[in-house]
Amino acid sequence: MQKLIEQTFKELHISEVESGSYSGTWGIQNKANTLKTYSPINSVELAQVGVSTIQDYENILKASQDCFKLWSKYPSPKRGEIIRQIAHEIRRLKEPLGNLISLEVGKIKSEGLGEIQEVIDIADFAVGLSRQLYGKTMHSERPNHRMYEQWHPLGSIGVISAFNFPAAVWAWNAMIAAVCGNTVIWKPSELTPLVAIALTKIASQVASSHGFPALFTLLTGDGPEIGIKLAADTRLPLISATGSCHMGRSVGQSVAARFGRSLLELGGNNALIVLEDADLELATRAVAFGAVGTAGQRCTTTRRLLLHKNIRDKFLTKLINSYSQIKIGNPLESGILMGPLISMKSVDSYKNAINTAKTQGGKILFGGNVLEHKLSSLYVEPCIILANSKMEIVKEETFAPILYVLEINSLDDAINIQNSVPQGLSSSLFTTSIKSAELFLSSRGSDCGIANINIGTSGAEIGGAFGGEKETGGGIEAGSDSWKAYMRRQTNTINWSDELPLAQGIEFN
Ligand code: UN1
Repeated sequence: MQKLIEQTFKELHISEVESGSYSGTWGIQNKANTLKTYSPINSVELAQVGVSTIQDYENILKASQDCFKLWSKYPSPKRGEIIRQIAHEIRRLKEPLGNLISLEVGKIKSEGLGEIQEVIDIADFAVGLSRQLYGKTMHSERPNHRMYEQWHPLGSIGVISAFNFPAAVWAWNAMIAAVCGNTVIWKPSELTPLVAIALTKIASQVASSHGFPALFTLLTGDGPEIGIKLAADTRLPLISATGSCHMGRSVGQSVAARFGRSLLELGGNNALIVLEDADLELATRAVAFGAVGTAGQRCTTTRRLLLHKNIRDKFLTKLINSYSQIKIGNPLESGILMGPLISMKSVDSYKNAINTAKTQGGKILFGGNVLEHKLSSLYVEPCIILANSKMEIVKEETFAPILYVLEINSLDDAINIQNSVPQGLSSSLFTTSIKSAELFLSSRGSDCGIANINIGTSGAEIGGAFGGEKETGGGIEAGSDSWKAYMRRQTNTINWSDELPLAQGIEFN
């Protein structure tokens, strides 16, 4: 692994001591104030990253705002061309970037590469979008008047991202926000600063070569302080935050108190429903990827499995058989499907949730143990728990590979159970009945931002809007018309007549 670390660092120009502050130039490394990053694979220290000081914060805010003045004037299709060049560089460096994600987050190799593909995809999407920031034209009720709406950039945007998608979620926000004419200040998770540093270096090298060194800036913190500061900062018209509901509630309240905008993509508690007419083979594979992929650390992870009573036992036999074949271990080795959890805190949450589930009447059907692994103490078994919907723990999101199984009698029953949790991100139904599928997707069906048929809850493509309802925060990111979140709408009425008629027929002579 040491060799891979050296090779990856070399290709991405990362060293063992890095500054975590970029304002157009990299901040001076303050040795007294660093955070250490470890690989969850074997707990080896990867690097020391300088934590941003108040002075760094101010420098970054200023540089980002100054850059906005120039960038927002630069034509959008030309902004798109810069994003195209960034995507080109990321394609070139896909392999080391994917490896860095595996090293820092513990994702299996193909998921690390997949995340970088997601960065490339959203960048490509943003390039096309740069020529499609359409506004509408309306017919005015007054003669010789023209009315239309146009979209303007907002300013400097704050992006707070979580450890589990250390690259893609920044890219969803940054690539789209940038073509819209905004500059972006990124505060990554303290667990994954190296991925953020690598991407900032790549994106900034391209942006600097066009005269926009502070288009993508970076702040690093070792706790919630910087996020709290960003949320309260009136200079930032939009804060996009991804993470727990707890974090989002605090960010959302703070941003709302100053009438800023927030875009929140928070916890999920995603259910997958299997009806008796479903293709069970397909459903088994979808559950395995949805619940075990990324070691259960996606916001879209399948956390609840709702099985029709007539296929419950048959399906569980298949699923347990499939779980027992999942190889857990060093995520860089081929054949391994599940790597470690990110931290001891996550291992504790895993253990606590399983203990709580047991005390609330849950029955362990598979796994549930922390492994005594030679590499680190962060490897756990995926766990399947037979539960009932009265168990309070089933309503909570635990960021670990724990799957609660609930029995259902009908689709209506399943929809009620599915919608009974506070979160509303992703959902999925396995059926071969068009009626059941349509009901699930109708307004009486899933209450989530994402509702799928015969596809699991995770692994969304970037072209669709991504986000969820209720405590998931309501923020919509990535594809479709999500770009509107990064712009302000302005309605313009132009009078080219010689009169001054008032709307609604009002006379005021
Ligand atoms: C997240 O877990 O925060 O749909 C994002 C998915 C990925 C993105 C997940 N494309 O699972």
